[in-house]
Formats: sequence, structure tokens, C-alpha cells
Amino acid sequence: MIVALLNQKGGVGKTTLALHLAGEWARRGQRVTVIDADPQGSALDWSQQRARESLPRLFGVIGLARDTLHREAPELARNVHHIVIDGPPRVAGLMRSALLAADIILIPVQPSPFDGWGSAEMLALLSEARVYRSHLVARFVLNRCGARTVIARETALTLADHDPPLLASKVGQRVAFADAAQSGRLVWEAHATIAAREITALASEVGRLAR
Ligand SMILES: Nc1ncnc2c1ncn2[C@@H]1O[C@H](COP(=O)(O)OP(=O)(O)O)[C@@H](O)[C@H]1O
Ligand SMILES: [Mg+2]
Repeated sequence: MIVALLNQKGGVGKTTLALHLAGEWARRGQRVTVIDADPQGSALDWSQQRARESLPRLFGVIGLARDTLHREAPELARNVHHIVIDGPPRVAGLMRSALLAADIILIPVQPSPFDGWGSAEMLALLSEARVYRSHLVARFVLNRCGARTVIARETALTLADHDPPLLASKVGQRVAFADAAQSGRLVWEAHATIAAREITALASEVGRLAR
């Protein structure tokens, strides 16, 4: 399956979740390639940092920040179980291309319901893509949830009707994720048990969407 993490907002966790999902599937013995579709190349930086620290290669990371991504992805997908696309920061041709390439779109958001999740432009592109690709699955995923962030019941009810819907698995605001990004590691390699458990649950839930 091809999973794309998309949100034109920076800092919501596209790269963090893309790398951790890829790592989780790799850990389960599946072959994975991450496509870094962000011109800033943070997934590639992470991979390079990993090589510098002589950490084992868990999955391939390739840079493909081009509008032709959707033309290359099927060929790349032939050799692996999963492709994970780390999305670009802007709503542009590149995002459209990622929407054409993917089977599952994950939109990381922070728990700020009044902040407006996923821009109208991005959601419009998503609806447009769904016209031609009716099997395209899209979900919001809550990232960086604070320990004490209790989403009020009314908000939870609003979220229940959200389109795209919200995944049940959530990822907390945890230092381990920031440390992992710096050191070319994944949270489970840093023995951050709670963070690792959240990723395991997320990967399983995403896996179930593919069936
Ligand atoms: N769940 C989390 N807990 C703590 N820090 C996080 C979490 N998710 C992301 N971060 C940190 O926030 C910053 C932005 O995350 P990143 O994945 O690069 O976002 P994006 O790719 O959407 O711009 C990074 O420094 C990252 O380490
Ligand atoms: Mg990023």
C-alpha cells in the first residue's frame, strides 16, 4: 500500500509519523520505502544522520520532490510492501501528485479543534482526487496530544462527524519523538516504550484501513 502524510502546515508531524510508520512496518519484517516529497529533505537528513551514526538501515529513503511523483510511485511500490510518502509543505502540484499516488492519506493535526484542521484548499484537492479515485481513504491523525489535553465531549462529538474521520490511535507530545528526529533514531530504538506503543497501535490501525 502507498500511504501519504499530507498537511500543508509545517510542524504537525508528517516527517515524524512517516519515518515511524515506515520503521514499524520494517520492524515487522516488511519491505518499506519512504519517499521524501518535501524539498527540504528532512526524511533524507534523518537517514543521513543514521548512516553517520552507523545505525542499521531499516528502510530506504529516496528524495522525489517532483510533480511526477505519481508516475514513479507504482514502479517503486512493485518492490516493497509499503511506500510511505512524507508530504510537501505547500498545497501545490506536488501535493496533487501525492494524492494521485497514494491509497491512504493521513493528515496529521494537533489537538486544537478551533485552529482549523487541514486547509480548505487541501481538503478541496482531496475531494477532487476522490472523484477519480473512489478507493482513496483519508483520515486525520491527532499528533502531539498533551498529557492533560482532554478534548471536551462536545469537541469529540464534532470530531465524530468530521470528514475525513479521525483515527482512534493518537500520538502524544513526547520528547522521545524530538530526540529521535535529531539522532537519526526511532522511538523504539531509544527505548521510549510509551511512544513506541503509540506507533505500533497507529501502524496496526492504518494497516487495517488497507484491507
Ligand atoms: N508527537 C510528538 N512529540 C514531540 N515532538 C514532536 C512530535 N511530533 C513531531 N514532533 C517534533 O515537531 C517538529 C516538527 O515535526 P515534523 O515531523 O518535522 O513535522 P512536519 O514534517 O509536518 O513539518 C520536529 O522537531 C519533531 O521532532
Ligand atoms: Mg516534514
